[in-house]
Amino acid sequence: MKHLLKLGDLSGEEIIELLNLADQLKYERKNGIPHPHLAGKTLGMIFRKSSTRTRVSFETAMSQLGGHAQYLGPGMIQLGGHETIGDTGKVLSRLVDVVMARVIEHKTIVELADACTIPVINGMSDYNHPTQEIGDLCTIKENLPEGKRLEDCKVVFVGDGTQVCASLGFITTKLGMHFVHYGPEGHQLNADHKHILEANCKLSGGSWAVTDERDAVRGADFIYTDVWYGLYENEMPKEERVRVFADYQVNRELMQLGALGCKFLHCLPATRGEDVTDEVADSAASLCWEQAGNRLTAMRGLLVYFTRCR
Ligand code: CP
Repeated sequence: MKHLLKLGDLSGEEIIELLNLADQLKYERKNGIPHPHLAGKTLGMIFRKSSTRTRVSFETAMSQLGGHAQYLGPGMIQLGGHETIGDTGKVLSRLVDVVMARVIEHKTIVELADACTIPVINGMSDYNHPTQEIGDLCTIKENLPEGKRLEDCKVVFVGDGTQVCASLGFITTKLGMHFVHYGPEGHQLNADHKHILEANCKLSGGSWAVTDERDAVRGADFIYTDVWYGLYENEMPKEERVRVFADYQVNRELMQLGALGCKFLHCLPATRGEDVTDEVADSAASLCWEQAGNRLTAMRGLLVYFTRCR
């Protein structure tokens, strides 16, 4: 039995195996080949925060795989009230077959997983967002620049060092890719993140950089961003964050620093006119809608992979 709480829970080989499984299930879905791998199984979906993509893709994936999902949204279950996280884990282990949880603090999902005897999948915590990154790698694999392999690609995350930024760094460096975080000082990936990026690159042959130098965007095959505010419990005022990140908007000028054919990625939701312009989000270079669709590709793969590991 295995959990997915962070990308470090998977080796580079396991990530590739998972991506191949997700591809296979996507092919079967597209070609009408039945794949009821989770018939009779139930997923419990704990959400401590709101979600569009994660919630809908997990629920749809369970239904497509022949199973069922239960939405356990904020205020809908005893968690955080009289019942401890550990007791909730013990109970759910007897009632469902797999759990996914979107939590505020990462330690909550660690505590939940410690008590569970069924697989637990992280649907986003303040530390990382692994299911997003499995979907993003499906999208990158499907849109590799001509003649390039994953290991040849440069991926630049622009803006705040969010959990999505950290997760993108973790997965790309595990796969031997070249990762850059271009963001303002005070909002960059921290020393712990850098330690993981370094360890991953030593094993995989990839590279990493964290910088506020705009030149670092040059030659990017993929430019990725996330929102500037609304992610943290105690963040500085919105106006202040908009001022800090104003130079990090992904617009036509920034995209032009990328390699010929550079593609745009965004985990969504986007704040149009702030983190990205309409022109880029709706351009032919934008993969963000395809990325949202590949959350479903990822969830099918993840659900089958982690219930098989059980
Ligand atoms: N990208 C992402 O996780 O979207 P939701 O918050 O809508 O699930």
